[in-house]
Amino acid sequence: MSSKVVAIGEAMIEMAVIGDDTYRRSFAGDTFNTAWHMAQILGTGGQVGFVTKVGRDSVSDTFIDQLTDDGMDVSCIGRVDDRTMGLYMIALKGVERDFQYWRSHSAARLLADNPDWLTKAIGQAGLIHLSGITLAILSADARARLWDVIATARSQGARLSFDPNVRPRLWSSQDETRTTLSAFLEITDIALPSFDDEAALWGDTSPQATLERLQKAGVTEIAVKDGAGPVLGLCDGTQTTVETPSVSGMRDTTGAGDAFNAGYLAARLSGHPQQDAIAFGQAVSSEVLRHFGARIPKEHIPNLI
Ligand SMILES: Nc1ncnc2c1ncn2[C@@H]1O[C@H](COP(=O)(O)OP(=O)(O)O)[C@@H](O)[C@H]1O
Ligand SMILES: [Mg+2]
Repeated sequence: MSSKVVAIGEAMIEMAVIGDDTYRRSFAGDTFNTAWHMAQILGTGGQVGFVTKVGRDSVSDTFIDQLTDDGMDVSCIGRVDDRTMGLYMIALKGVERDFQYWRSHSAARLLADNPDWLTKAIGQAGLIHLSGITLAILSADARARLWDVIATARSQGARLSFDPNVRPRLWSSQDETRTTLSAFLEITDIALPSFDDEAALWGDTSPQATLERLQKAGVTEIAVKDGAGPVLGLCDGTQTTVETPSVSGMRDTTGAGDAFNAGYLAARLSGHPQQDAIAFGQAVSSEVLRHFGARIPKEHIPNLI
């Protein structure tokens, strides 16, 4: 299998408040943030792709141009005639975030409408990264098509990394959320959940309970994030606990989990053992916590040694 990576999901136009009625325009979205950080860390120009759909309008063009400039593979981005990218605005209340979304009719919602296109977009990727947010924005039929395409890719050697990233307001019911996430866990090789999401959906009483539930579901590589708490890992049948270093100068919690995923996956792809991959994930997220927005300024991207 190739060293190519693809993340599947939605990138939105991000409007982040920077002063009275003044916003800065950027692009963000959970799996996109992970793919972008991986591309910067791995620096293998063209080896990290983002599978999504955008419009044919000028802001969609700008998005694709920026990804190209940042060394990403944009050949797996589809265009839709009569739709554009979703948008969200961030207001900050201290370090907490207040989000408002306009995404219900975004082009990305159509990313799994055509299984042939999707199969081609994933191509020969050795690692596919996906999240529960990607699943939440798709129709039930589209989820089933995505499941089939990924299952086929896995049967040809690809591995699936999955962050459940549970966002109740994107789902119609808790039942639907559980059923869908359980189905995707069946084909998950690497699970990267956050404990608070899992506790709210499944009633897990501790990160250890989350790890054991996922292990029972058949996932063999797991890292359970827990904010400032330790990260619990499982890999090759061995469990590890890695304390999370405290972060000075924390400004904005946006994208901490996505950045962790990028550091973790980049380290694992580069052959590092799980414990080191967790530590690098923590280093990448601590950097995103020190900056506004979901992505680290390029000059602050930590080096993977
Ligand atoms: N308060 C914090 N102090 C230090 N590190 C943090 C803090 N919050 C998050 N992190 C880092 O970000 C990672 C992901 O955080 P978490 O809050 O679990 O994810 P999410 O952003 O998806 O909710 C943690 O594993 C940790 O490395
Ligand atoms: Mg998360």
